[in-house]
Order: sequence, then structure tokens, then C-alpha cells
Amino acid sequence: NKLAPFVDPLPVPPVLRPEPGKLVTVRMAPSSHKLHRDLPPTELWTYNGSYPGPTIEARTGQAIDIAWANALPTNHFLPVDHNICGAEADKPIVRAITHLHGAKVPRKDDGYPEDWYVPGKSRRHHYPNAQDAATLWYHDHAMGINRLNMYAGLMGLYLLRDEHELSLGLPSGDFELPLVIADRWLRQDGRLYYPDSGDAKAPWVPEVFGNLTLVNGAILPRADVKARRYRLRVLNAANGRFYHLRFKDGRPFQVIGSDQGLLAAPATMRSIFLAPGERADIVVDFASLRGGSAELMNDAVPLMRFAVGQGEAKDDSRVPDALREITRFTEASATKTRDMTMDEYSDCVATPMLMLLNGKRWHEPVTETVKLGSTEMWNLVNLTEDTHPIHLHLVRFQILDRRPYDVDEYLEKKTIRYVGPAQKPPAHEQGWKDVVQVYPGMVTRIIATFDGYEGRYAWHCHLAEHEANEMMRPFEVVA
Ligand code: C2O
Ligand code: CU
Repeated sequence: NKLAPFVDPLPVPPVLRPEPGKLVTVRMAPSSHKLHRDLPPTELWTYNGSYPGPTIEARTGQAIDIAWANALPTNHFLPVDHNICGAEADKPIVRAITHLHGAKVPRKDDGYPEDWYVPGKSRRHHYPNAQDAATLWYHDHAMGINRLNMYAGLMGLYLLRDEHELSLGLPSGDFELPLVIADRWLRQDGRLYYPDSGDAKAPWVPEVFGNLTLVNGAILPRADVKARRYRLRVLNAANGRFYHLRFKDGRPFQVIGSDQGLLAAPATMRSIFLAPGERADIVVDFASLRGGSAELMNDAVPLMRFAVGQGEAKDDSRVPDALREITRFTEASATKTRDMTMDEYSDCVATPMLMLLNGKRWHEPVTETVKLGSTEMWNLVNLTEDTHPIHLHLVRFQILDRRPYDVDEYLEKKTIRYVGPAQKPPAHEQGWKDVVQVYPGMVTRIIATFDGYEGRYAWHCHLAEHEANEMMRPFEVVA
């Protein structure tokens, strides 16, 4: 049974603009949602009763304070796996901690996985917003169960704006739309299903894909737009699915920003590949489509429709050729280089597949101690057969290049021997990033300056099921 496409309007999450100096409370609680006209309501766990949660808007240079209140039930409606680190049977079943993904914040405000708290409790976070405008997002990060909490609906956008970006004349107001894209498995009765291994004692599965895709919490929605330019803030908020986004008619669009804000110059593209956790800031022009429509697709699968009005639309927005200055790091900017591996162990039938970073589990002692203010190059050495979207807390980074290397030789001798030329990142990846797609068979080199704050932060794969099961490690910034 197919659901009728494009019958529901594209939901736009409410906007929350916390005033500097005033504490705003955001409440995590269950709420029920019609995800499609013809489906019964679905129970989700949401921030302030909305999925996605409210879009928080903030300004660079203006700190805000949010109290994240956990008003969730004490039992989980999705299958907790007690074999997973942090979700052992002696831990409270329901725990939550909100991480502001992409934010440079003190450790206590970061939403560190082990800083979770139980229903009935609240935690106050201070967000300095001392960084450039960017499409950030917040989501649950509770050790061992955040894949379930995120899947249940605990996520939202956080748009940080700055004077420079506001001066550019990009489409704004009604002509700027958030698109939070995530797949879910829904049962006929509308209930959320989270795939499991079939073993009730060890339900974890290495990857989760849904049967339907939600755009801002609606299945195949329709956005009624005017025949003019729109700015789309796209987030891949899926647990495990990559999206290959394009318009059905192949129309080009301009990518103006990535995870950490504007690119140096717009990149004209006809499709873009986004991993879980990645954002794309896009401008598309519907001016030539009066009375027609454009469908946003994931490869050949429609996700939503933009229905364009008949009338002529006024449009004084623009996309300047130069968006902002970005100084590209060179290899020589790094004072330290580390090889960081992505590993997979799946040789044993008795235990499920295990993926690690640097061959280490979360609880092993910190191995990456980084000097505050120093610039490091991390060689992300993928020894597995999958692409892993790797995310670092605290910092923004640049992708230097990706280069094929001899995997077997590395497994044997732990040395990198390149077997092909280095590939520069494409234009849309040449800005500031906080998630990078680390391809199999390649070494992906990234460079970051570890400034801002001291303390212990996390880096991990953003495939939620990998991250939950040990594909996450701490690093420590020290003075
Ligand atoms: Cu978006 Cu540590 O995560
Ligand atoms: Cu992974």
C-alpha cells in the first residue's frame, strides 16, 4: 500500500530565539504526530513537542543559555541493548543528554555522552556562539542509547547567523526553509519500528534503514513555493542512510555552505551526497517553473515536491560569487600528524560485528592528547569496507585530500603505502567541515586547530549504530 504523495504540507518547525541572559527551557517528552494524512499518529520523543525540535536561532557573539529538561518516561519504547557500553543493565533505561553538533563550547556544555541524566532532571547548557554562522543541529548523545533516542525523534536545527552572512542578501525569511531528512521504519498502524537482530538479549544491529523518509517529520510532503530563489538548509539526520539528493528534472542548484558555514564561493551542482550528520546549505531557483513543480529525490526515490505558484514573484535576493574568505590549510600548517584507523572485526560468528577507532574501545585510556591551540593533521585510515562519516566535537576542520593506499600492507605493517594520486576534495567540501566521509580503501587527511577549550571531547562515526557500539573515542585537549 503506497501512501499518496505530496498531500501533506511541508512542516516547518517552530523557531525559538533565546534572548541572551535569559534561560530558556526545552523539554524532552513523548508526543504523537501525524507523519502522513493517511497514517494513524506515531508516538515520537521530541523536544518541545515538535519533530524536528524547534529551530533554535542564535547570533554569533551573543551567548545563550538553554535548560534541557528530561521529561521522558522511565521505560524505553525501542529495544535497549544491555550488552552495549554505557547501556548495561545496572544503568537507568532512559537517559538523555543533548549535544549541540558543530558548536565550540566548554566541555561541560558539550553534551558529552557520559553526562546523561534521567527523567525528572534537567541540565543547563551555556552556548557562547563564538564562531562563524553555520547550520548546527542538536540531538541526543546519551551513551549506548542515543541511536534510539535520535530515532525516536530527539533532534532539531540550530541556525547560527552572523553580520557578514546577513549582509550578503541571500534568500531569507519565508524563502529560507529547513529540510531535516531522515528515514524511519513505520508499521501499518503508524508505530515506529526499530530493526533488531532477532535476539532479544542482544538486539543491536550494525545499520538501520527505514521504509519511509521523513522531511521535517512528514512523508512525501509538498511545499508551496513562489517562482523565485530559496535557501534550503539540508540536514541528513538519519541513523544510517546516506542521501544522494537531486531534483527530478536535473536542475542545477548552488551549494553555498557545508557543515560549518559558508563556502568561499558557491558550487553549482546537480546532485549532492550527504552522510548522516552532514549539512548542505543550498540555493535553488524556481523562477522558470511558474505553475509547475520540482521534486527533490534521493536517487530515483521522491522525497518531497516543491509546487511553484503561477504568479510572478519578486526576488531581490542574490548569491554573491564570493561568500567569505577561507584560508586553506596546507600540510605544513600541522605541527602533529596522527594515523587514526577505522577497524572492523567480524571474523567470529558468535559475536556480532564490532567496529572500532584505533583498535580501541571507548573506555580504554585516552590516546589522543592534543595541545590547546595546536594544529593537527589526522590521517583517517579506513581499514573497513564501508564509508564512515567521522565527526569531531569541538573543532571545525578542513579536508586536505583522499588517497588510495594498500590496506593489506597497513594491516600487516601499520605503514601507509599510497597506490594512487591524492584527490583534492570537490568544491562543496572545500569549506569548513565537522563530519567527513571516510571512504574505504583511502586515507582521508583532515586538518584542525584545536582551540577554544580544554577538556575531554568525543570523536566518532556518525552512523548512529556504529557510534553506539564502540566506534567512538575520547580525545583530550590540554594546555
Ligand atoms: Cu552529531 Cu557526537 O554528534
Ligand atoms: Cu561507521
